[in-house]
Amino acid sequence: MENNILKISNLSCNYGQIIALEDISLEINRGEIVSLIGANGVGKTTLLRTISALSKEKSGKILFCGVDITKYDSDKRVRMGIAQVPEGRGLFTILSVEENLKLGAYCRKDDKIIEDLDYVYEKFPILREKKDDYAGTLSGGQQQMIAVGRALMSKPKLLLLDELSMGLAPIVVEEIFNVITTLRDMGTTIFLVEQNAFLALSISDRAYVLENGRVAISGKSEDMLSDTRVKEAYLGV
Ligand SMILES: Nc1ncnc2c1ncn2[C@@H]1O[C@H](COP(=O)(O)OP(=O)(O)OP(=O)(O)O)[C@@H](O)[C@H]1O
Ligand SMILES: [Mg+2]
Repeated sequence: MENNILKISNLSCNYGQIIALEDISLEINRGEIVSLIGANGVGKTTLLRTISALSKEKSGKILFCGVDITKYDSDKRVRMGIAQVPEGRGLFTILSVEENLKLGAYCRKDDKIIEDLDYVYEKFPILREKKDDYAGTLSGGQQQMIAVGRALMSKPKLLLLDELSMGLAPIVVEEIFNVITTLRDMGTTIFLVEQNAFLALSISDRAYVLENGRVAISGKSEDMLSDTRVKEAYLGV
């Protein structure tokens, strides 16, 4: 069995005349947390959306668990085990917390959904307390927990996280990222996008830096924390 769960080769993506991604190649191994960092507008969200087939690539190839999924639609990719927590969360604010969570299991036909709902409530106990409340009435951090919980309801092998920490208090960020680390320890592979480079490098095993739609730097996260280029451009030290 190949060690990598995701392998992207020579991926490019345009929005009309705008080149969003150019010749991206990267690999994510089973059981890793890999982070993707970079400034505003360098293509981080586009890359995650392309992995979920929410954006269409111009060229390139995506392998998931050794299968070429480049032509697969987003539903099929979810069923294979790719889940995304989108930038801005994408919750249904006038549905209850529990209804939002159950939507994450839309593509499943098994009878373990209630068990997995319990698992999400165990990870985020506040969501059990508020399960019947409208999602839109919860705090930003709690809404982010719903978004993560909803992604978990599809039983992902690979979890894609887009800017989880955005706009949240440090203590809430810590709580959510503790859960993310536990998920990795339980076997879920994680690819996370963050503008908070220090946070991303602190919790990930490896990282890629995007600049203008291209991979500019990659390596072990701990090495990047002491890399002069990364420090100057992304860590503000
Ligand atoms: N739907 C779209 N139509 C046209 N251009 C787009 C669209 N979405 C993104 N872009 C452009 O593509 C480039 C990459 O955007 P993307 O959202 O992937 O970057 P990002 O790194 O996630 O940025 P941010 O840090 O702001 O979230 C930017 O120049 C952006 O303006
Ligand atoms: Mg983005």
